[in-house]
Amino acid sequence: METVSIRKTVLLVQIWIMLNVSPSMAGCRFPAFSKLQLPLRTIGPEAAAFDRKGGGPYTGIADGRIVKYQGPKVGFTDFAVTSPNRTKAKCDGKNGPELQQICGRPFGLGFYYKTGNLYITDAIYGLVVVGPSGGLVTRVPSFQGRNFAFLDALDIDQSKGVVYFVDSGAIFLTGNRTRIVESKDTSGRLFKYDIATKQVTLLLSGLSGPVGVALSKDNSYVLITEYITQRIQRFWLKGAKANSSDVFANVDGIPDNIKRTVLGDFWVAIFNTKQPTTFSLGQRINRFGKVVETCNFTDQYNSPNGITEVQEYKGKLYVGSLDQNFIGVSRV
Ligand SMILES: *[C@@H]1O[C@H](CO)[C@@H](O)[C@H](O)[C@H]1NC(C)=O
Ligand SMILES: *[C@@H]1O[C@H](CO)[C@@H](O)[C@H](O)[C@H]1NC(C)=O
Ligand SMILES: *[C@@H]1O[C@H](CO)[C@@H](O)[C@H](O)[C@H]1NC(C)=O
Ligand SMILES: *[C@@H]1O[C@H](CO)[C@@H](O)[C@H](O)[C@H]1NC(C)=O
Repeated sequence: METVSIRKTVLLVQIWIMLNVSPSMAGCRFPAFSKLQLPLRTIGPEAAAFDRKGGGPYTGIADGRIVKYQGPKVGFTDFAVTSPNRTKAKCDGKNGPELQQICGRPFGLGFYYKTGNLYITDAIYGLVVVGPSGGLVTRVPSFQGRNFAFLDALDIDQSKGVVYFVDSGAIFLTGNRTRIVESKDTSGRLFKYDIATKQVTLLLSGLSGPVGVALSKDNSYVLITEYITQRIQRFWLKGAKANSSDVFANVDGIPDNIKRTVLGDFWVAIFNTKQPTTFSLGQRINRFGKVVETCNFTDQYNSPNGITEVQEYKGKLYVGSLDQNFIGVSRV
């Protein structure tokens, strides 16, 4: 009788510990940090992608180029440009909101493995695509013939050939974080582009600064990070809730890009708004919306703009930013 009650107590204590030790306390499996140096005088590798052979990372930088990493000896080389008006003389090594109109500003990027084509969301030039050997992109038809306001991120359903992407809203053209957050803008939208039919469809409007998008492993929903409301929305693609959305998780800080892992969790890049404390965290969130791992990049990204992306690829984390001259790499 006594042993049974002791066992019961031990079990209850174990359950209590399991429930109360917050999973967000889980440390980071990626302690080491190194840098992939960008070309001279360039900054702002906002996001990264790898091609179907594992080549890369490829990244869009502030002077409008998409560059490809070719290993430590060669470093990054030119791969593609998004603006037909761009010249190397005018744009290489330069940055600033005025120049983006001419030079382009590629943010989100992802390969469609079936064709090897790279799809890119350029803030100014919209959704564009380039072949496996790069060069100047081709524009994808817009929605109802109108230009998008500010395209930021995309993710691709490889099985169906569908690109999901977000328009953050015109307030993002200011590039001023305080103004963006204070605007309480709700003009953000989620779209899909069907590669086979070339149709762009509006899926969800009323979003508050959508800046990241990630498809679930089973393709049943997409997650959208909202910069202004500091949360992650879920848009259902399948099942009884199809075409409706709900809140997947709230975030402590401003979320930026969201990238799925092979196993089906999501890495979210998060930074703090509250001056003078700025922080940059990568948080891995499971499919129940719970934080299960936190990696702290505050010391390596000690600048007002923090980090924009954390992406897990073959045992490493790749970290993006708007103002650094490198892609961060963390290893196990
Ligand atoms: C860029 O070029 C296109 C034509 O290729 C033109 O319509 C557009 O006005 C140009 N934009 C700028 C900012 O020069
Ligand atoms: C950003 O906007 C805020 C609020 O409108 C303003 O006080 C601040 O000066 C702006 N910052 C820059 C760098 O323009
Ligand atoms: C969701 O929307 C699509 C296209 O608008 C429509 O074809 C589909 O029937 C809708 N599904 C549900 C469950 O409402
Ligand atoms: C992240 O690191 C910074 C600088 O070392 C520290 O001030 C901050 O408390 C850390 N945040 C978390 C959540 O670990």
